[in-house]
Amino acid sequence: MSVQTARIRPFTPTDYSALGAAYGRTYPDYPWSVEEMRHQDETFDTARFFKVRLVAEEDGAIVGAAEAGHRPSRFDPDSYHFDLWVVPDRRRRGHGSALHDAVIAALRARDARVTRGATKESLRDGTAFLANRGWKEVKRDWESHLTVEGFDFAKFRGADERVAKERIRISTYADELTRDPETPRKAYELNADCRRDVPAIDAPTPTTFEEWRADWVDAPGFLSDGFFVAIDRDGRWLGMSNLLESSGDKSFVWQGFTGVRREARGRGIAMALKLRTVTHAQRLRVDHIKTWNDQSNRPMLAINEAMGFEKQSAWISFEYRLRP
Ligand SMILES: CC(C)(COP(=O)(O)OP(=O)(O)OC[C@H]1O[C@@H](n2cnc3c(N)ncnc32)[C@H](O)[C@@H]1OP(=O)(O)O)[C@@H](O)C(=O)NCCC(=O)NCCS
Repeated sequence: MSVQTARIRPFTPTDYSALGAAYGRTYPDYPWSVEEMRHQDETFDTARFFKVRLVAEEDGAIVGAAEAGHRPSRFDPDSYHFDLWVVPDRRRRGHGSALHDAVIAALRARDARVTRGATKESLRDGTAFLANRGWKEVKRDWESHLTVEGFDFAKFRGADERVAKERIRISTYADELTRDPETPRKAYELNADCRRDVPAIDAPTPTTFEEWRADWVDAPGFLSDGFFVAIDRDGRWLGMSNLLESSGDKSFVWQGFTGVRREARGRGIAMALKLRTVTHAQRLRVDHIKTWNDQSNRPMLAINEAMGFEKQSAWISFEYRLRP
């Protein structure tokens, strides 16, 4: 490959559709629409947080990209997320190395301490590439799929009664919104409480109601009637489980977040909520639900296993230390 035909340059807003198309060729199972990309960029507060995104071009076409940036909801000023990809038919020509080195140089210039990225165990070129450059594995997540057609609800007879007996009702964000103007605030507060216990390397940091709203309710893919909540007799929201639409691929939906407040755990609330998401996925006529869980998250994995979620290739998180 001659040097005149390849180059690395910063991303510009005119690149969205070419970037989206190249991303789609790289990760056909993980569609990411231009609308989602724009939404994420437009709601990223560049006054408080840093992000760099570079693209690789060959003969004027985008063939790969890399980015690193702060995680606003798990903010550590010296820690950055990392992402790098090259379209399959343009690999092993130096694009990945050039993108990698340029992003690492940008992080070094900021005196970053650490950066982390993930790749699928089955993507051998990605795991080898990172290992060859000093990246170390730090954790694994399971991706699991549940086929919704023919789901055996009979196996879970009693799940609804179990929570109903405690006078806990299951509702949706959409239904609550018609009768309670505090619905968005209640969802925000519940999510803030439950996300404290999601296994992760960086600790959660507080987000404002406005930031939560932009990430959830106003984000493409939000399904207000696929967002199930458990509410006790006093009107207190105890737990939630939601589905998100997958833009560009209507064959599946993402499981969003499932969480139950600490004091309400062990009472069958998460199971009752997740069963409702299966019914909703059937209504949406999708083939399956996709979910990701940290391999150390036993309580969540136990529910998924009981429901029949099937494990796929694991996602491996790697980190690169720039300084102690
Ligand atoms: C990881 C990834 C971005 C690498 O992209 P790439 O463009 O193939 O990267 P490079 O061409 O720079 O390097 C890949 C290998 O090919 C080698 N290579 C580069 N040019 C070459 C050439 N002309 N001839 C032979 N080998 C070559 C590199 O030395 C490197 O091997 P090494 O790791 O032993 O040094 C790509 O495999 C990918 O998109 N994978 C899926 C996504 C992913 O896993 N990303 C990483 C986590 S965020």
